[in-house]
Amino acid sequence: MTTDDQILKNKNSKLLDRFNASLMFDRKLYSQDIRGSIAHAKMLCLQNIITADEQQKIEKGLLQIKDEIEKEQFVWDIRHEDIHMAIETRLTQLIGDTAGKLHTARSRNDQVATDMAIYLREKNNSIATKLKDIITTFASIAHNHTSSLIPGMTHLQHAQPINFGFHLLAYIQMFRRDYERFVSSNLRNNFCPLGSAALAGTPHDIDRHETARLLDFTAASASALDSSSNRDTALEMLFNISMTSMHISRLSEELVLWSSYEFGFVTISDNYATTSSIMPQKKNPDVPELLRGKTGRVYGNLLSLLVVMKSLPLAYNKDTQEDKEGVFDSIETIEMSLDILDDMMKNITINTDNMQKACAVGHLTATDLADYLVRKRDMPFRTAYIVTKDVVKYADGLGKDISAISIEELRASSEILQDIEDEVLGYLNLKNSMNSRDSYGGTSTKQTKAQLKQITKWLESIR
Ligand code: ARG
Repeated sequence: MTTDDQILKNKNSKLLDRFNASLMFDRKLYSQDIRGSIAHAKMLCLQNIITADEQQKIEKGLLQIKDEIEKEQFVWDIRHEDIHMAIETRLTQLIGDTAGKLHTARSRNDQVATDMAIYLREKNNSIATKLKDIITTFASIAHNHTSSLIPGMTHLQHAQPINFGFHLLAYIQMFRRDYERFVSSNLRNNFCPLGSAALAGTPHDIDRHETARLLDFTAASASALDSSSNRDTALEMLFNISMTSMHISRLSEELVLWSSYEFGFVTISDNYATTSSIMPQKKNPDVPELLRGKTGRVYGNLLSLLVVMKSLPLAYNKDTQEDKEGVFDSIETIEMSLDILDDMMKNITINTDNMQKACAVGHLTATDLADYLVRKRDMPFRTAYIVTKDVVKYADGLGKDISAISIEELRASSEILQDIEDEVLGYLNLKNSMNSRDSYGGTSTKQTKAQLKQITKWLESIR
């Protein structure tokens, strides 16, 4: 081999090390890995596979490694490939050959699956807690606005008057479902893979139920073949994050609209908006825009892992190492997004006057007139609809909103309405209209308050 060949070989092997390694990102799992190893060693000792002395040496060594990592004294070397090998190598340096006994009756396949299961369990819980905080914040804003009118829209067109608290409650319901999704993911993530070994179990007389118990799982996973390459919890995490991001994104879109001159419904705190570098009059809603934009990357991470997994024959394949970066990235993104959303909403100004003004255009109470005619005149809804459409046209001609029309004008608008009772005006009133939708789940102040009460009760139940 010439010197040039040698250099080339070294260069290629460096490249290969880099390509093959996961250490630079899976080192995030060091504490879960060490926890799993300590439990595994304990179980091996209880089963008389290693001695108590060996178990203690292993545990002490692992705890020292944890300490070294946390004090940033640990030397990371990409040639160790991944967090599992890096820790084992260091353990060998610290306690000698005994370190090798730790890998009895396990493989890196069940080891990484266990590390991820513990990590995802922790994150499902911490993200759920953040969602609970968001719901608390939204509920306290909603509480102050159970009769603040805002135009309810469909197709982004004025539809019917609702109150702002009711509007926020829709997001509260979305975030509540998100909360439940993260929490329930852990019901399926509650089976410990450790001891599945490479794919088929082990001839050693281990007690997987004990390992599961030591690691706070409900039970040991039932199939070694499944659990040594299962990435369902990671995928659920990515999906749950995508769903939450989609909800945050819809809200962000509304905040972008609402903070524009055209709407003026909210004022985002200066901390969460920026100015333009060339247009001095501007205040841009960068933060809601970014919250909306982040959705793209978390959808991407979900799709990537779905594609990675789709053609993998059983059991472990190195492809699955590709699960981590996307999962870490999505988790970091959602944690940041939830914290920022929470604080931004705590500091937002709600411009109820502008919301109220916006309700006075677009004939939000037109449906109320139709409903009135159905109920009081026994008119078929289709006829009432056509009559009301004519009234709207007539009001437009006068340059008036239907909620501000006078009884004389209404009577003049259509032959059918020439003797309409005075009381109809009460039905065209915006606030009355909002309050008339008093069906369960509806927008009336009474129903909104009842919905908020339900949420408060639920919040208390999950504390
Ligand atoms: N770093 C690997 C991963 O994340 C650990 C498992 C390696 N197993 C193997 N048989 N090469 O998937």
